Amino acid sequence: MTTTALQRDLETARLRVEELRTLVRYHDYRYYVMNQPELGDSDYDALLHELRALEERFPELVTPDSPTQRVAGEPSPAFGVVEHREPMLSLSNVFDAAELRQWHQRVARLLERDDFTFVCEPKIDGLAIALQYRSGRFAVGATRGDGARGEDITANLRTTRALPLVARPPAAGLGFDAFEVRGEVYMSKAEFARLNAEQAEAGRPLYVNPRNTAAGSLRQLDPAVTASRRLELFAYQLGWVEGGTRPPTHWDALDWLHAAGFPTNPHARRCASIDEVEAFCGEWAERRDELEYAIDGVVVKVDEYALQRRLGTVGREPRWATAFKFPAEQAVTLLRGIDVSVGRTGVLTPFAVLEPVFVGGARVSIATLHNEEQIRLKDLRIGDDVIVQRAGDVIPEVVGPVISRREGRTLQHFAMPARCPVCDTPVVKEQDAAASYCPNRRCPVKLARQLEHFASRGAMDIEGLGERFSFRLVELGFVRTLADVYALHERPEDLLALEGIGAKTLDNLFARIEASKAQPLRRLLIALGIRHVGGETALALATHFGSLRALRGASAEELAAVNGIGPIVAQAVHAYLHDEEYAALLDALAAVGVRTDDEQAARGGPLEGETIVVTGSLERWSRDRVEALIKSLGGRVGASVTKQTTLLVAGDGGGSKRARAEALRTRIADEAEFVALLAERGWRERA
Ligand code: IVH
Repeated sequence: MTTTALQRDLETARLRVEELRTLVRYHDYRYYVMNQPELGDSDYDALLHELRALEERFPELVTPDSPTQRVAGEPSPAFGVVEHREPMLSLSNVFDAAELRQWHQRVARLLERDDFTFVCEPKIDGLAIALQYRSGRFAVGATRGDGARGEDITANLRTTRALPLVARPPAAGLGFDAFEVRGEVYMSKAEFARLNAEQAEAGRPLYVNPRNTAAGSLRQLDPAVTASRRLELFAYQLGWVEGGTRPPTHWDALDWLHAAGFPTNPHARRCASIDEVEAFCGEWAERRDELEYAIDGVVVKVDEYALQRRLGTVGREPRWATAFKFPAEQAVTLLRGIDVSVGRTGVLTPFAVLEPVFVGGARVSIATLHNEEQIRLKDLRIGDDVIVQRAGDVIPEVVGPVISRREGRTLQHFAMPARCPVCDTPVVKEQDAAASYCPNRRCPVKLARQLEHFASRGAMDIEGLGERFSFRLVELGFVRTLADVYALHERPEDLLALEGIGAKTLDNLFARIEASKAQPLRRLLIALGIRHVGGETALALATHFGSLRALRGASAEELAAVNGIGPIVAQAVHAYLHDEEYAALLDALAAVGVRTDDEQAARGGPLEGETIVVTGSLERWSRDRVEALIKSLGGRVGASVTKQTTLLVAGDGGGSKRARAEALRTRIADEAEFVALLAERGWRERA
């Protein structure tokens, strides 16, 4: 591009960036301050997304006060940054007693004993903080941020009376030159009520929940504001220490913290068995409302530090602790309407449009309704007050209507639209199935979603070809079939004319598209989006047939004979491969050079003769890598455990395959044992 064209681009971007910032600020104000949002979450996200994309492309337009500079856990430039010496981790979750026991079993297996103790603590629904003390004095306080770096909120924390500015002289032998304490800052229910009464009196909008209010209070630029709100604190962890030896157990550390003047939770309990832990969790699920603060579960920790160290961390979660989450929180709100979205396969999915409501700490304005049948079964009518629930981080759902509130309302039954809301094609209802779908193969939304899926991580893995770009390419007619992706490089000018696409971005995209041609057959099979074909099925088919040509030559019966493939899946695959249009697509993909075979197993390798199934997650390799490794060493990879399976490599999680392998007395190896086995057979990891 010429210099003047670039400048013109920059000018256009500057105007749009300013407009976007004004919009985002306005909607923030509606949401956080007035508590009267006008936009749905996804529309709001779209604004931020566009802003972020423009700022990425034109870094010269970034300003410290841009809304992008303070969202998503990134330190606000108004506060300094604190690097956490040890990362602030999150916790895995368990949702019931059975999952709790599974967690315990894994821990016991890893430790090769089950005589260890636990500490159980109420899980406070507040804000994690890290406090540094030097020579006994409070020196630095920080938020969690992204876990590695947080915001320096020392000045505000100083105003929190629960926080000791000077730690008390500790018991003999347990002094430290410096140490870190981790804990949770929260606002009590009473303080939250007091603050809201004050707001109401002054005619100001109400705060939404204690958690967000506590977080907002701590991130005030003016510490005087923080000081005017009473925040509380519980210390729940002793972090790093300098100049001293830490106590041997977490329970002792809590004692030490308490003695040093930190508030610790009085309900924390040391438990000698998993039965006791389960009883503690059950008790607090019942009693949670008795507490003066909100809790959303119980944190269960292995007590002894030496054992914690042995268990270590996977990803960002320690193996030595887990959060027992209480059952879903519910709220009642108005069902304003029912809309329909069109998915990749054309299935129409109704979803609830709700009067925004806070449930389980999040604002909910839409919820899934699954299908028409569910709406009928639940007897939902537009205009009803409905119960909404959110469990953990999952998508909210509508439980049912509040029948007692129906009187005097005008209610409306939902009817599935007779035509696709996107392309207006008459909708088809599957016999016996609850689903309605748009049969139009050229329905733009279907195609856009297929494209997004085609390019996604587990499929052809074309980074940069996400939801928004997929929709644009389809909208503009640049992609009419999936094979058109591989012709995009022929029209660089058209693409450069699009907003948010620079020459560099485009070059990268073309390179990734080109590279995607080398994906093995199993990835291509996933990418095509054939009904019922997910990762496991694709792997089974690719491994069995080895090439697209062989696969296309197979009859439905031959397909069904493959291990792990049932008759319905076989039928769907066969129908796809022999459909005229899809056959043409496959030919077109092959013609542009997309790879159509799978990696061949290496003959004579150390795993020759082995059929290995991998389950759960491994630390050392991704699933793809370990499967590629097995094949490169001459082994076969199986999708499910059968009599032919010679070895199950079991990582974390993955229960049913392990059970099956146990039933079949198949050899099972954990990750370390598998590595040892490879080493035994002469395999050495390349540096
Ligand atoms: S221990 C590695 N104990 O829950 C262990 N966390 O997802 C780190 N939380 O961000 C946490 N009460 O803010 C622990 N008694 C407690 C807690 C607690 C609340 C929060 C904490 C953390 C989140 C974990």
